[in-house]
Amino acid sequence: MQRREFLTKSSLVLGSSLLPLPVLLQAKSAQSAAVLPVKAGDWPALRQLFALSYDYIHLATFLLASHPKPVAEAIERHRHAFDVNPADYWHQHFMTIEGDIANTAAQYMGGRGEQIALTDSTTMGLAMVYSGLQLRPGDEILQTVHDHYSTDLSLQLRAERTGAKVRQVALYDKPAEVSVDQVVSRLKAAINAATKVVAVTWVHSSTGVKLPVRAIADMLAELNKQRDEADHILFCVDGVHGFGIEDVDVTTLGCDFFIAGTHKWLFGPRGTGVIWGSDKGWASCKAVIPSFSRSYDVWLGGSTQDQVPVGAHMTPGGFHSFEHRWALPEAFQLHLQLGKANVQQRIHQLNSQTKQGLQQIKGVTLHTPMAPELSSGMVCFDYKDMAADDVVKAMHAKGIIISSTPYRQSYARFAPSLINNEQEIEQTLAALRTV
Ligand SMILES: Cc1ncc(COP(=O)(O)O)c(C=O)c1O
Repeated sequence: MQRREFLTKSSLVLGSSLLPLPVLLQAKSAQSAAVLPVKAGDWPALRQLFALSYDYIHLATFLLASHPKPVAEAIERHRHAFDVNPADYWHQHFMTIEGDIANTAAQYMGGRGEQIALTDSTTMGLAMVYSGLQLRPGDEILQTVHDHYSTDLSLQLRAERTGAKVRQVALYDKPAEVSVDQVVSRLKAAINAATKVVAVTWVHSSTGVKLPVRAIADMLAELNKQRDEADHILFCVDGVHGFGIEDVDVTTLGCDFFIAGTHKWLFGPRGTGVIWGSDKGWASCKAVIPSFSRSYDVWLGGSTQDQVPVGAHMTPGGFHSFEHRWALPEAFQLHLQLGKANVQQRIHQLNSQTKQGLQQIKGVTLHTPMAPELSSGMVCFDYKDMAADDVVKAMHAKGIIISSTPYRQSYARFAPSLINNEQEIEQTLAALRTV
C-alpha cells in the first residue's frame, strides 16, 4: 500500500479490508491496553510501575520521565511491530493514530483534539509557535525575565530572522513574596500599543513561582476589548511545569497557546509534547515544519487545506520515533486513572511538607512562595553560603538526587512528585541538615 492509495481512501476501515491477515493482527497491537494496573490515588502502587532505582531518593524526576509500566509496554509493543514490518505497521496506522492521540490528549487537558499538535518536546513546541506567529512590522513580543532558555532563544532567533522586536519584563523581584496583583500590574504596565504577543511561563523552573495565568488572561481580555481585532494581544504559555500537576482544563486558563512537553510530570514517552491552540491562536500561526498529515494529500491534490484539522497540520512531519509518540495515550490514561484532582492534591501536599520543613532549617533561604496558588511542584532555595551545585553534589553523596536551577541565578531545587512519599521528604530534610 502506498501513501497515495491510503490518503485517497476516506478511512482506514476501507483500507484495512485490503490488508492481509498478519497485518490486521498486528494492527490490534497499536491499541492501548484496556486495564491499567493502578487505582485512583494509590501512590505506593504507582511507584511500583517505575523501574526507578530504590538506591536513591529521586527529587528531580521532572527533568526527564522514567517510563511507567503501561507506557514502557506500549513503546515495546509499537517497537516490536515496527521491527517486524515497518512499512505495513506505519501504513496501517498513520492516517488515524495521531488524531486518536490528540483526542486522548484533549480528554486529559481539555479542548478539542483537532486543536492539538503533537511535538517532540516543549522546546520544539515553543520554537514552532514563536517562529510561526504572524506579526507585522513594528509589532512587539513581550516576554518575561523568568522564562526558560527555550522561550528566550525561540524569541531571540525569531528576532534575528525577521527583525521582530522582543522586550522583557520582571514580574517580581523577590519570588517568595510574589503576589497576583504584583504580577498582573507589572505585566500590564509593560504592555504598549505595539505589543501583540505576551509570552510567559506558567511555573518558573528558576524560582518555583506559578503565575496566575487566568488573572493575566483576564487583564489581557480587558485590554483587547479596547483594540481592533487585528491588534489583539495573543497570550502564549509555556505550561510544562504545571502540566501533569495542576487540575485544570487548559481552555479555561484564557490563553491562546499552551505548550508543554509530556515527558516530564506527565510520565509520557521521552521525546513527546503537545501544543494546544485556541481557534484564534491557530488562525494567527503558520506551520514551520511540513506535517505528514492530510496536508500531504493537499499537496498531492486530493484534499483542500480546510479539510485538514489545524492541529494535524501543525504537527511536525517526517518520520519520527513513532514507538514513543504512539505510546503517549497510555500516559494520559494513567493520569486520568489516578485522578487529576488526586494528583494535584498529592504533589502540593508533598511540596508543602518540603517547604514547611525547609523553613525550620537554619541556613535555608526559601525562594518559592509557600502559597499553593503561587507555586506547584518545585521548591527552590539557597543553603548557607553554598553554591547550588555544591548542595546538589552533597545531597547526591547522601543518596538524594536533586537539581540546581539552570539559570544565571542558580538555586538548589527539590521537586517532590508522585513517586515520592512523606518519609522520603523527612529523610531529605534530615540529610540537608547534616550538609
Ligand atoms: C520552563 C521550561 N520550559 C521548557 C523546558 C524544556 O523542556 P523540553 O525538554 O520538553 O524541551 C524546560 C526544561 O526543563 C523548562 O524548565
